[in-house]
Amino acid sequence: MEYTTLGDTGMEVSRICLGCMSFGTSDWREWVLDEDEGLELVERAIELGINFFDTANMYSDGESERVLGKALEGRRDEMVVASKVYFQMDDDDPNSGGLGRKAIEQELDNSLERLGMDTLDLLQIHRWDHDTPIETTMRALDDAIRRGKTRYVGGSSMWAHQFAEAQYTADSLGLDRFATMQNHYNLLYREEEREMLPLCEKFGVGVIPWSPLARGYLARPHEEFDATTRGESDEHAKRHPYFEGGGQEVNERVQELAAEKDVKMAQIALAWQFHKDWVDAPIVGTTSIEHLEDAVEALDIKLSDSDVEYLEEPYQPVRISGHE
Ligand SMILES: NC(=O)c1ccc[n+]([C@@H]2O[C@H](COP(=O)([O-])OP(=O)(O)OC[C@H]3O[C@@H](n4cnc5c(N)ncnc54)[C@H](OP(=O)(O)O)[C@@H]3O)[C@@H](O)[C@H]2O)c1
Repeated sequence: MEYTTLGDTGMEVSRICLGCMSFGTSDWREWVLDEDEGLELVERAIELGINFFDTANMYSDGESERVLGKALEGRRDEMVVASKVYFQMDDDDPNSGGLGRKAIEQELDNSLERLGMDTLDLLQIHRWDHDTPIETTMRALDDAIRRGKTRYVGGSSMWAHQFAEAQYTADSLGLDRFATMQNHYNLLYREEEREMLPLCEKFGVGVIPWSPLARGYLARPHEEFDATTRGESDEHAKRHPYFEGGGQEVNERVQELAAEKDVKMAQIALAWQFHKDWVDAPIVGTTSIEHLEDAVEALDIKLSDSDVEYLEEPYQPVRISGHE
């Protein structure tokens, strides 16, 4: 395993972060692993040297955090654990979502209880809260740090102007800034290269892209996308603009390069991420031990500058996806 320093945090993380949206309960989404299989997958990830895990309170309505906590029991200190807050957890309780102080404090406590941990390493805001002033959110997040409930705070998909506003708000109030950005970024969605990624570079913010395999679109030929349970039923995947612009041709070039190098498509798509200086660790989602091993092997794949250019060339700007 390779490790890198996550932004300016001083925290060393594996270059692959394991996404835990796929663990919890299949009652939530058909393609999610139930507890035993989830535990087995996290165990293999640890054997492979992965020390970085990303979950959220909303994944499997809290079950993902519970399974992750169980999997990490007895070795919590060696692991870097990230979770998220924002989406409403209880339909009957409007304060179980959003980014007001009450929601942040209560939902963070609930996350820690499910994880069986005293502190998170990284608490991320899952989305921007248009109803709460950013000053309120940044103060509540900074207080969570002071109370020892999280070591760092991070953002997720939002506009670059919002991220800049949050950072400057934190600075002007003497609060901790966002240390990380978890954004939507892959070979089929590169809008983040315009503003967000250069901004992160400027602020020393660690970048941990979500859906680095475009929810599977970069892991198999485009005409076979519906061949898996997740492909067939993942309504979010269908909403992303992966095959608008030049997406189909990018997918075909990933196929070509994978065949040429005798590796898998998913490995080419991940190798591309590993070659991007602004990416610290892509957050890989998988329900398969074999696919997890593929991801780790992808760290050894060398892409030339012309390989990278060839993969990127057909891309055309697409509509914003991942936030509003
Ligand atoms: N902040 C946010 O708003 C946000 C949004 C989405 C996701 N996330 C985070 O990002 C993580 C990853 O997201 P994601 O699951 O959408 O990402 P992804 O890694 O882009 O896609 C996962 C899909 O790719 C397939 N796959 C993975 N490796 C493969 C391989 N070697 N060969 C063939 N297929 C392969 C998986 O199938 P198998 O299961 O069969 O391997 C799965 O269907 C989540 O777990 C979550 O932590 C965050």
